[in-house]
Amino acid sequence: MVPPLKSTEAAYTPTAKILHWLIAALMTVQFAVAWTMPHIGRNTKPETLINLHFSLGTLILFLVVLRLVWRLSHREPPPIDGLPPWQAASARAMHWLLYALLLVIPILGWANASWRGFPISFFGLFELPVLLATRAPGWNWTGDVHAFISNYALLGLVGLHVLAALYHTLVRRDGVLERMLPEGWRLTARWSISDKG
Ligand code: HEM
Ligand code: HEM
Repeated sequence: MVPPLKSTEAAYTPTAKILHWLIAALMTVQFAVAWTMPHIGRNTKPETLINLHFSLGTLILFLVVLRLVWRLSHREPPPIDGLPPWQAASARAMHWLLYALLLVIPILGWANASWRGFPISFFGLFELPVLLATRAPGWNWTGDVHAFISNYALLGLVGLHVLAALYHTLVRRDGVLERMLPEGWRLTARWSISDKG
């Protein structure tokens, strides 16, 4: 008899899970900071909340790079049984789009802070190199695009991503969310590959 599949064989690695939830939590704090920090204009001097936005954003960028390296060196779990091919393909496309935004957004923020001539200190420990010369002509769009794609593209896609997770958990009850949760967590009764046999 073929031994039953262990649930861990179909799940993300503990490292991928920790990085996923750490980045999701830091993103929540980052948006709360972004929306409460003073509006950044021509004469703004970066103060506590703005510096916190830079430091948190830099930390997120570092964790995303780490996560991409992990992702490219470790196979993702295969799509769950019975998933329509269009859903598997759209999940893949969504995940790569999220990774792309998670890289582009902080880099644009960093470029804009450089363009404004702000020093970017990482929690007071060290300073990041300058990406653009202060007020370099032709680069003032970086701030608007940074804020626009954060507020609309990223939040819109994350909204769809969370809706998809809810759909899998509440409608299909197929265990997709459990692949990203700590081992042993069960939210859906129907998913019990490891219990069969
Ligand atoms: C990592 C994820 C990041 C997210 C989700 C994010 C999000 C945001 C959002 C939503 C705003 C607009 C705030 C408003 O509505 O007024 C903003 C503005 C800004 N952020 Fe970020 N940010 C991130 C990383 C960074 C980093 C790493 C830096 C710099 C090192 C940075 C620098 C800035 C600057 C300079 C602005 C003002 C842009 C302007 O209005 O011209 N951000 N950010
Ligand atoms: C309540 C919030 C969230 C839930 C419930 C959730 C759920 C999930 C689940 C279940 C997966 C695995 C999907 C599969 O097995 O095919 C996943 C993957 C992923 N999630 Fe989330 N997520 C959340 C928030 C976020 C946030 C805020 C981000 C980034 C901004 C994010 C980015 C990603 C990425 C990039 C993957 C792909 C992982 C890979 O294949 O390497 N998620 N998420």
